[in-house]
Amino acid sequence: MNYSLYAGGKRLRPLLVFCACQAVGGHADAAAPVAAALEMIHTYSLIHDDLPAMDDDDLRRGRPTCHKAFDEATAILAGDAMNTYAFQAILEGVSNPALAVAVARELAAGAGVDGMVGGQMADLESEGAQSDADRLRYIHEHKTGALITAAVVCGGIVGGASPQTLERLRGFGRQVGLAFQVIDDILDETATAEQLGKSPGKDRDAGKMTYPRVMGLHKARQYAQTLVDGALAELRDLEQADGLRTIADYFLSRTH
Ligand code: IPE
Ligand code: IPE
Ligand code: MG
Ligand code: MG
Ligand code: MG
Repeated sequence: MNYSLYAGGKRLRPLLVFCACQAVGGHADAAAPVAAALEMIHTYSLIHDDLPAMDDDDLRRGRPTCHKAFDEATAILAGDAMNTYAFQAILEGVSNPALAVAVARELAAGAGVDGMVGGQMADLESEGAQSDADRLRYIHEHKTGALITAAVVCGGIVGGASPQTLERLRGFGRQVGLAFQVIDDILDETATAEQLGKSPGKDRDAGKMTYPRVMGLHKARQYAQTLVDGALAELRDLEQADGLRTIADYFLSRTH
């Protein structure tokens, strides 16, 4: 667990938790256990995503993948343990019980069969399949967008946001979440292993359904820009959302 968590990584989901909490006027202290939980779920998803039965990758966050450094059983169990530890961190660390329940529920939905896990299954089932824009959108919104959306919404919940503001944050999260995976697909085709800390070119080799494959690199980049513009529009009325705005811009400009 420590090997994969402390290997680095951009920490974007915990940052989204903190910045969403800040955007609604909440205190960072309240968001800390939630931020940690998001990174644990995300890291677990990466460990399992890299397993031979899934994407079969050897390099992650600039190091050998968890199953390479240890073994498959250890990688499966490290992921399982971080999945449950995330909920333990929320239920022990968020002092307001109503908020803890709301955060845990939001995260469970984003991480599970209606979110990340469902998207991962669709991603694997679609390897080698004919391009299909609706299916591609489903995959990306679920395997990646759902957890990014949960990060933003959970940050809002723990910061005490109103239901209306939470819906704005959800709209922001959905669009930046999809944009994030569009850029991930682009970087798989255009970046180096040194930049990424993971092996590029794997999507094409595995026959993955990706945005560059369906619409070409140029249109995919334009699409990510359109999504981020839409996301920023959701933040119109939030005066303290500069952190979220900066992250949204970074999602487009990132090179790793
Ligand atoms: C990689 O996520 C997996 C996807 C959902 C695309 P990140 O690019 O955020 O990975 P780390 O956390 O920085 O390693
Ligand atoms: C991963 O998508 C999404 C999750 C881990 C949930 P990818 O398979 O494209 O992520 P990378 O490129 O291996 O980081
Ligand atoms: Mg994958
Ligand atoms: Mg992968
Ligand atoms: Mg990828």
